[in-house]
Amino acid sequence: MYSDYLTYWDYIHLDTLLSLQNPKTQFPDEKVFIIYHQITELYFNLILWEIEQIADHKNLTEKFFIERLDRIIRYFHLLENSFTVMVDGLEKEQFLKFRMSLLPSSGFQSAQYRLIEICSTDLSNLIHIDFREGLQESDDIEKQVECLYWRSGATELASGKKTLTLQQFEQKYIKLFTETSLKYRERNLQKIYQQHFPQSKPVIEKLREFDQLSNVLWRLVHMRTAARYLHRDPEDIKATGGTNWQKYLPPRFQRIMFFS
Ligand code: HEM
Repeated sequence: MYSDYLTYWDYIHLDTLLSLQNPKTQFPDEKVFIIYHQITELYFNLILWEIEQIADHKNLTEKFFIERLDRIIRYFHLLENSFTVMVDGLEKEQFLKFRMSLLPSSGFQSAQYRLIEICSTDLSNLIHIDFREGLQESDDIEKQVECLYWRSGATELASGKKTLTLQQFEQKYIKLFTETSLKYRERNLQKIYQQHFPQSKPVIEKLREFDQLSNVLWRLVHMRTAARYLHRDPEDIKATGGTNWQKYLPPRFQRIMFFS
């Protein structure tokens, strides 16, 4: 009681938090766009935090595993449901103008999204569909990282070349992704499930729900947003140097599944 009283605003670093939105343009909706990306990254961080607690647990019980999976599912539900902020909550005309000032940055460059994948499942499940079967049994992490499915996203529709968005992302993060893949090789969620609870119906049910939310439902609602703002004839996209997103974002093309 003799020390300074802790205040709410100091505890959660409110001033710092509210100083982290710096729109690049004058369009009011850019603030909505920035904050919603930040909210998403905070939830991604919580998801990684729950996965880390499962992976590091010295005495893992089914109860703990299920409770943490429940939390992850809850966060993903919130992300899926709140995506209306992007789908309906931006003026299209504003979006199309301010996005030109933000290129080549893109949500595609979310490292936490990739880390969630790497910590959830064996790398072999994240290989591009064309090479997945061939690399299923491979022990060569570097080779697998080379063939990760998302490395064929964000490529130019006309030439098939990697965009700057993809090049810069790879340059900054591939080392981290390779290291994390090694670290989680034996303790990703899929491995933990197989080693500890392969027969548990409740665990299987939760894993299925998590898979569905992250690999189908979130991807679909995100893709619908892209379609709302960016939909054009592929020939026009080619002509303006656009990307292959129409062939990349629909979950039916990549067919990513964490747990099988
Ligand atoms: C108006 C809103 C949005 C639009 C129009 C949009 C558009 C796109 C497009 C076109 C791509 C494919 C990459 C490319 O071809 O450039 C992409 C990928 C991606 N975006 Fe968004 N996005 C939006 C909001 C968000 C938000 C809020 C997040 C949250 C962090 C996000 C995260 C991602 C991720 C993680 C990918 C990679 C998905 C994958 O590999 O399957 N996006 N986005």
